[in-house]
Amino acid sequence: MTSPSETRYGIDYMPTAVPGPKARALVERDGRVMAPMGRVYPLVVDHASGCEVWDVDGHRYLDMNAGIAVLAAGHSHPRLVKVAQEQIARFTHMAGTDFYNEPMIRAAEKLVTLMPGGEGWQVFFTNSGTEAIEASIKLARYVTGRQNVIGFYGAFHGRSYGSLSLTASKPRQRRGFFPLLPGTFHSYYPNCYRCPINLAHPACGIACLDLIEHTLFNTTTPASEVAAIIVEPIQGEGGYVVPPLGALQKLREICDRHGILLICDEVQSGVGRTGQMWAFEHEGMVPDIVASAKGLGGGLPIGAMVARTELARQWEPGAHGNTYGGNALTCAVTHELLCMVEEQLMANAAIVGLHLLGRLQDLQPRFAQIGAVRGRGLMIGVEFIDPATGAPDHDLAEAVMAESFRKGLLVLTCGPSTVRFCPPLTLTSEQADEGVERLALAIEECVAP
Ligand SMILES: Cc1ncc(COP(=O)(O)O)c(C=O)c1O
Repeated sequence: MTSPSETRYGIDYMPTAVPGPKARALVERDGRVMAPMGRVYPLVVDHASGCEVWDVDGHRYLDMNAGIAVLAAGHSHPRLVKVAQEQIARFTHMAGTDFYNEPMIRAAEKLVTLMPGGEGWQVFFTNSGTEAIEASIKLARYVTGRQNVIGFYGAFHGRSYGSLSLTASKPRQRRGFFPLLPGTFHSYYPNCYRCPINLAHPACGIACLDLIEHTLFNTTTPASEVAAIIVEPIQGEGGYVVPPLGALQKLREICDRHGILLICDEVQSGVGRTGQMWAFEHEGMVPDIVASAKGLGGGLPIGAMVARTELARQWEPGAHGNTYGGNALTCAVTHELLCMVEEQLMANAAIVGLHLLGRLQDLQPRFAQIGAVRGRGLMIGVEFIDPATGAPDHDLAEAVMAESFRKGLLVLTCGPSTVRFCPPLTLTSEQADEGVERLALAIEECVAP
């Protein structure tokens, strides 16, 4: 399955058709017992290692998805496998809300050292990103005594009711689920490629953020009733939108002027993915509460709300809790993963990310349909447009994703028309080149007359 063959466009990495017979049979079985979920292509994994995945029919894929920005150390990294095996043999679970265990404490200690200043933070472990957001909202309301929370158009924070109320990236995520949490509002995210108020950066002075004070606070919610503003330092599901430098600092200033807490949703952008531990660090800005998940567990389900100590301490015991948070197995792996991110993975994400960004930008002169290539570290988006109008070309992005799959490259769309690259942070420059080559073949196939 690894020897490529020549085709009209160059190299065909998949000598036999995908999905193969075994994958097709499993997709059919899945359809009978699993609730509908809208899978994007029929990938059925058999095994995986590092940045490579093999399906049940023996096809090899280069993985630029990493389980949606999860597998920071790649698939089945030997260090994580060893720690997991040792911990599961020792003990697995002890209900971290009610009892103590060392793996949980070590993971929290490590996490705190990786926060700005390395101390003065406290951790609440969850099982997922959406729960980390729920914990953040609840803490913000609890300590401020205020009810309202402001998010951004294009945001994705999860699908439980609190986080869904702040999610605003696709109507289908909310359709049929109203009414949502009262007291949630949205404003414009600084997206300079498609400025929401038709101005140009830097002359605009990031004026879209001024609307929070000028419009929201003057018309919709008094600032004095706002508990928190929640922001993704790079919008993920909304299209890998990188705000201009200065935007997060400006948000910090707005919050400080009105006694509002700033929550950074680092579920997708955190844990080294952008070349810094947290994406907000690119601006040297410090939030009050950080929500993390995805990369944090190296593939095991874990999330964390990390709050400044003076805030976290205000929760009375029992004000919030769960059953699996602080699970010993996931925490043991998280501790090891965080050590790896600090030692090497974060730096690799910065170096290889820059290389990948450059190689993807090199494709722009070849394809007028690529409107923008943007990102930080290994969080990179390629936005597809209709070259005649500049409008997002959703269908082309979807077609490129599907064709990439057939060419042995796993990528996912996000936002209206972006194909994202969020590979394991172990990606090498050679693998990055291979990914770009396969993407180029897929685009050629899709735009061919
Ligand atoms: C920025 C962000 N926040 C929150 C979530 C929700 O995380 P989970 O799916 O683990 O609940 C996601 C998931 O994609 C996300 O990208």
